[in-house]
Amino acid sequence: MQPTLDFIKQIALDAGKILQDMAGGELGIQHKSEKDLVTRADHASEEFIIGSIREAFSDHTINAEESGHLSGTAEHQWFIDPIDGTLNYAHGVPFYCVSIAYAYQGEVVLGVVYDPARRECFSAELGNGAYLNDKPISVAHYEKLVNCMLSTGFPGNKWGSPEDNLHDFYNFSLAAQTVRRLGSAALDLAYVAAGRVDGFWEKSVHNWDIAAAGLIVQEAGGVVTNVYGGEDFLEEPISVAAGNPIIHPQILEILAKVRREYSE
Ligand code: IPD
Ligand code: CA
Ligand code: CA
Repeated sequence: MQPTLDFIKQIALDAGKILQDMAGGELGIQHKSEKDLVTRADHASEEFIIGSIREAFSDHTINAEESGHLSGTAEHQWFIDPIDGTLNYAHGVPFYCVSIAYAYQGEVVLGVVYDPARRECFSAELGNGAYLNDKPISVAHYEKLVNCMLSTGFPGNKWGSPEDNLHDFYNFSLAAQTVRRLGSAALDLAYVAAGRVDGFWEKSVHNWDIAAAGLIVQEAGGVVTNVYGGEDFLEEPISVAAGNPIIHPQILEILAKVRREYSE
């Protein structure tokens, strides 16, 4: 049996409430590595989401950031990020979200990204368009990078290597109107879908960061690939480049130029 978009939205809203209720309290921060951390709220949100899914669909496969791979049938798969933007959350910066995607036979068909601080629920069902709180959204119309606000993210563990994104960041900063680093890949992409941000790239992400928001961008009329232009953006190693159909190739061009110049 397959879930409905409303089922996922309700789980995301309830998980978002858990995050809001716990925000500012004792977060029990634990370090996964020197610069990566997890809070009690990540665990509470994930436990709630997995419990809700398993109660209704006990045989589905789940990929969740904190719990890893929970095996089930290959036909039904979930990708869960209980807080995307944990560093923002832990620092009291209200820019984070819950991200939940459902894939049927290997294709993401339902995606929800919920920002509890603004009560903004971005969602999409394959073939049915993208929505923000039930109003249709679409990507921005700009055609030149110089008019575009882009956003990106930096891998916390690759500083000093060609993958640290600094050359790309420099080149995009020259070419675009401006570049933001907001701190939540899922919300960055949701903002592309809503036409608030005109493009996004990140060179190293996980499937739970981008599965839901990738579908939302596509359903909002945008193009999503990996940074090499590959269409299967959930195939390892995972990276992402997104924008409207005119800006997206320009983003790929700059990424390729930086690769050539710095021979990654
Ligand atoms: C991170 C955020 C960040 C991005 C990282 C992600 P987390 O997710 O999306 O913006 O730059 O690549 O890992 O750790 O907050 O779930
Ligand atoms: Ca994440
Ligand atoms: Ca997370």
